[in-house]
Amino acid sequence: MSQEKIIEILSNINEPVLNTDYVTLDFVKGISLNGKNLTLTLGISEINDEIISQASDEIKKEFSKLMPDLNIKELKFVIGVTEHKDEKKNSVMPGIKNTIAVASGKGGVGKSTIAVNLAVALAKEGAKVGLIDADIYGPSIPLMFGINKKPGVTKVGEKSMLVPLERYGVKVMSIGFLIEEKSAVVWRGPMASSALKQFIGDVVWDDLDYLLFDMPPGTGDIQLTLSQTIPLTCAIIVTTPQDISLADARKGYVMFERVNVPTMGIIENMSYYKNPDGSREYIFGKGGGKKMSEEFNVKLLGEIPLNMKIREGGDSGSPVADGGQDTELTEIFRKMAKDTIREINLMNIKSSADPGLVIEI
Ligand SMILES: Nc1ncnc2c1ncn2[C@@H]1O[C@H](COP(=O)(O)OP(=O)(O)O)[C@@H](O)[C@H]1O
Ligand SMILES: [Mg+2]
Repeated sequence: MSQEKIIEILSNINEPVLNTDYVTLDFVKGISLNGKNLTLTLGISEINDEIISQASDEIKKEFSKLMPDLNIKELKFVIGVTEHKDEKKNSVMPGIKNTIAVASGKGGVGKSTIAVNLAVALAKEGAKVGLIDADIYGPSIPLMFGINKKPGVTKVGEKSMLVPLERYGVKVMSIGFLIEEKSAVVWRGPMASSALKQFIGDVVWDDLDYLLFDMPPGTGDIQLTLSQTIPLTCAIIVTTPQDISLADARKGYVMFERVNVPTMGIIENMSYYKNPDGSREYIFGKGGGKKMSEEFNVKLLGEIPLNMKIREGGDSGSPVADGGQDTELTEIFRKMAKDTIREINLMNIKSSADPGLVIEI
């Protein structure tokens, strides 16, 4: 009885970031009642002091009004991730809430570096994260995660499935775990696509909040096929500040638009070099990412400096987002992860509220 009443009250209180009630969002994560003492665990889009105190005040106010005898002993907040509701995604990968393509128009802009660090940072925020190395011809995930073993195989019913490898709280799968480096380059497009389909369907991912794809570079047929094959929630486009790279990033944006995948944000990599005295040098130009984000009205998710520790972290399999090497860099990726969680939640809420095309007869 009390349990039902508690849920009913929560169905009338809005989570402050999404302005939607906790029950609709599926953000009621735990109700534990011991006599009159209640411990409540709720999801929230952003764990920061201001938002949490706003949310707590609201909840305490409502409960003291509607269930005055109850004592809220503890109010716990965990990161709340909404699901991208899409028929195709739900049939292909039902346990996975959101899929993110990390893409760029060309290689060498730091796509894999960003995908790895974003995945690690999301996991550190408390999300369940997987990462697929979709760059079949040039896999970098094994090196960047420092993994050099083969994934296990298990039977699920009659079917043999791969068990992803896990590090830094992220489950990863890469063609690099399975074959010699050189043999992938002779694969043709359809083989690459079918390998990728297997990474989605024949891997035990279990439940994930986010599955990231480190996409191959470019906007050719393979990329287009992939973005049509994988039911994507959104794309994140990585670019460097200079004009040539931005022109490629724009092509990436247009490619995703053609297959109805929204670009959630842009990340400008190698934005500046920070001198020891704190001043910045804009080696590859300045403000390109910002310009592009304004042009397409998408969020600029981050400006990542050119920094040796980022490169070393990649080469040694210890991503800076994991912390330890440089708190400033770790913080940059932490903010990026927080923004990603919030923006995808906002996107999912908006699309579920959108009635789509209504034809009146
Ligand atoms: N912000 C950065 N600072 C320093 N080195 C970087 C940065 N971003 C990427 N790199 C390095 O540049 C190279 C290419 O990056 P990578 O992530 O493999 O690019 P892509 O996946 O787009 O081809 C790697 O050696 C990587 O460590
Ligand atoms: Mg790469």
